[in-house]
Amino acid sequence: MSGSSSKGIHPIVWADGHLRLLDQRVLPHEERWVECHNALHVAEAIHGMAVRGAPAIGIAAAYGLVLDALAGRDYDAAELVLMESRPTAVNLRWALARMRAVHSLGYDARRLLAEAQLIHAEDLAQNLEMARLGAALLPLNAQVITHCNTGALATGGHGTALGVIRSAYAEGRIAQVYNTETRPWLQGARLTAWELQRENIPDKLIADGAAAHLMASEKIDWVIVGADRIAVNGDTANKIGTYALAVAARHHGVKFMVVAPSGTFDLKCPNGAAIPIEQRPAHELTELRGSVIAPVDMDAWNPVFDVTPASLIDAIVCESGVILNPDEQKIRALLG
Ligand code: MRU
Repeated sequence: MSGSSSKGIHPIVWADGHLRLLDQRVLPHEERWVECHNALHVAEAIHGMAVRGAPAIGIAAAYGLVLDALAGRDYDAAELVLMESRPTAVNLRWALARMRAVHSLGYDARRLLAEAQLIHAEDLAQNLEMARLGAALLPLNAQVITHCNTGALATGGHGTALGVIRSAYAEGRIAQVYNTETRPWLQGARLTAWELQRENIPDKLIADGAAAHLMASEKIDWVIVGADRIAVNGDTANKIGTYALAVAARHHGVKFMVVAPSGTFDLKCPNGAAIPIEQRPAHELTELRGSVIAPVDMDAWNPVFDVTPASLIDAIVCESGVILNPDEQKIRALLG
């Protein structure tokens, strides 16, 4: 049943006047919650990766504004600290803009809370619709590759790319998922593997560097990924390694699908070169869970997103429809 949602995974919970975030840094072996009582706590949780994934970041930021509003704190200051927490996912800015529109009607914490809850609920509904549309593109018994974590943990529920995989599996369209480990934060090895295992969806973990060899050795039908920002020409920023997957997919005749809600499109951004790419500290590469693995004082280049040109994308799936071979004209026609 393609309408089913991810079983019992609720990483963002508004309870007793504060925000609880399931700490994604310690999953799957530990369930720990980060309790946020103000916007700064939420901004720290976003920057520190306790909550991650473009839609989830936007939802959390919206609740962050509510926390400061409930305490009567300065709206502009709360918005600024949240805005600066992570640069690439445009969903963050999109959610803050929606909250700003409500705030412009008057400073009312209850009204802001209602808007945050609406953003949260709408994201799940959009994911279910994208899952239906994306699943219909797959043949029966497909073998697919996915990257990073785009599931219930990264969204308001069900997921973007992982939502397509969930619904397609329920329809008998998926025989095998291969998921990349996704260095350096291992969102694939820790989070995607956990989500798929809970639902007994056949999944094999691969090293990031194994994807091209897998495409050469097995019949892979689609690579299915999410997005953090889609420029108006269709160029798409997503987790580092996505671009390499797209290049390998085109070389091997494997189709490439991007699944993202309308809030991930940045119609003011002309192309991928204009998308800000987050750089994170060297120690995230040189250390593994606190153990140093590279020579001491090793420098590193650590961009955590890359840009896949629209020309390598076969389909963008959004809740408003599917765009095949995306370009600016088709994107404007669908999103206005
Ligand atoms: O650094 P992260 O874990 O926030 O990166 C997440 C991704 O790149 C996802 O693919 C993207 O946000 C889409 S999630 C629905």
